[in-house]
Amino acid sequence: MDAERDMAGDGVAEDGARPEALRAAMVEELRQLGAVRSDPVERAFRVVPRHLFSPEEPLMKAYGVNRSVVVKRDDDGMALSTVSAPSMQADMLEQTEVRPGMRVLEIGSGGVNAAMLAELVGSEGHVTTVDIDADVTERARRGLAESGYDQVRVVRADAEHGVADQAPYDRILVTVGVWDIPPAWLDQLAEGGRLIVPLRLRGVMRSIALERAGDRLTSRSVHPCGFVPVQGMGAREEHVALLDEDVALRFDEQQHLDTAGLSEALTTPPEQRWSGITVGSQEMIDDLTLWLTTTLPGCGMLTAKQAAVDRGLVGRPARRGVPAAVDGNSFAYRATVRTTEDERIEFGVYGHGPRGGELAEQHVDLMRQWDRQHRHGPGAVIEVRPAHTPDERVNHGLVLDRNHTRVVIFWP
Ligand SMILES: C[S@@+](CC[C@H](N)C(=O)[O-])C[C@H]1O[C@@H](n2cnc3c(N)ncnc32)[C@H](O)[C@@H]1O
Repeated sequence: MDAERDMAGDGVAEDGARPEALRAAMVEELRQLGAVRSDPVERAFRVVPRHLFSPEEPLMKAYGVNRSVVVKRDDDGMALSTVSAPSMQADMLEQTEVRPGMRVLEIGSGGVNAAMLAELVGSEGHVTTVDIDADVTERARRGLAESGYDQVRVVRADAEHGVADQAPYDRILVTVGVWDIPPAWLDQLAEGGRLIVPLRLRGVMRSIALERAGDRLTSRSVHPCGFVPVQGMGAREEHVALLDEDVALRFDEQQHLDTAGLSEALTTPPEQRWSGITVGSQEMIDDLTLWLTTTLPGCGMLTAKQAAVDRGLVGRPARRGVPAAVDGNSFAYRATVRTTEDERIEFGVYGHGPRGGELAEQHVDLMRQWDRQHRHGPGAVIEVRPAHTPDERVNHGLVLDRNHTRVVIFWP
């Protein structure tokens, strides 16, 4: 499919740039960022006219590498559907490793990504995209038709049940944040096939490329990502404890919390512990975050509004959300300080409450363990087994029990 054909006469950006030029610049930047890593994915980004999928937006926005376009919000203004940012799409398409001739199911439809999948599978392959929202499927259908990719099958349904009539799939690419993996996704995945899924693990989301062997799924890569939450049967609310109007602790699992005690603890000066571990300001620390998330006792995510940072109530990292160890009326979370050495950042921990100092020590010890054993290692391995799997088959890591699955996380 040569989508370039249809480009003549399409829009011009405010500064006079044409879509072709913006696309070429976007591809260049995606390569430099390491989001595009292979020639087939690069080609898909070069040829799909992504501005046709968000015609109401300025061209520059459609081609901004880190910009997603919100296409639908709920009554409170929260995004329900977005066309994902090119950098996120590129990274996940690389994780997916699509080959010509494959059958692919995309869960969550924006249109653009399905068009790129159609490029990757070629004329012998097959792409189905499913979305729960009729407005979204309608938009995707329109964009796919206008850009010349109407061979993509667009289905409106709750993807909890997959799309059985086109199964089995060699690849299932999920583009919405989930807490569990419904049985239909495993059933509809070919043996040896790949499921790429943004999974919530104790408040942090990771795009995990899982390969199927029988009823076991094992990760081949684990990357940071951000997605709107799934709706319908798979929807799952976080449990939120408000410690202050601007500070919250969020948990995936229901747990007994001393919210009043934790709120009180927040108002007292923290015990500080520093780790001696430093990172460059551009260095990725997603692995450290996942390590702490999966090893800290009673882990939740501490999140805060800028106002709380300005009031001196919490350290700056809380603004983006940081793993916090929680025990009774005490908690401890990651803090940072800028060092004089080449603008590097040192990690430390702030502990609040009667056991704040103790939790902070434990937290810093775990950071040091990560630094010694895992910082330069292969990262976490994640396995997903059916819910009925006995304990002795999953006792090699942290087990997170879900409705349909047991998620096992271990660090080789
Ligand atoms: C981030 S958007 C999809 C992005 C798109 N794949 C792209 O690359 O531009 C997530 C979509 O998932 C859809 N969604 C949420 N829950 C769903 C469900 N249970 N079944 C199918 N689609 C769902 C939303 O309606 C939303 O359009």
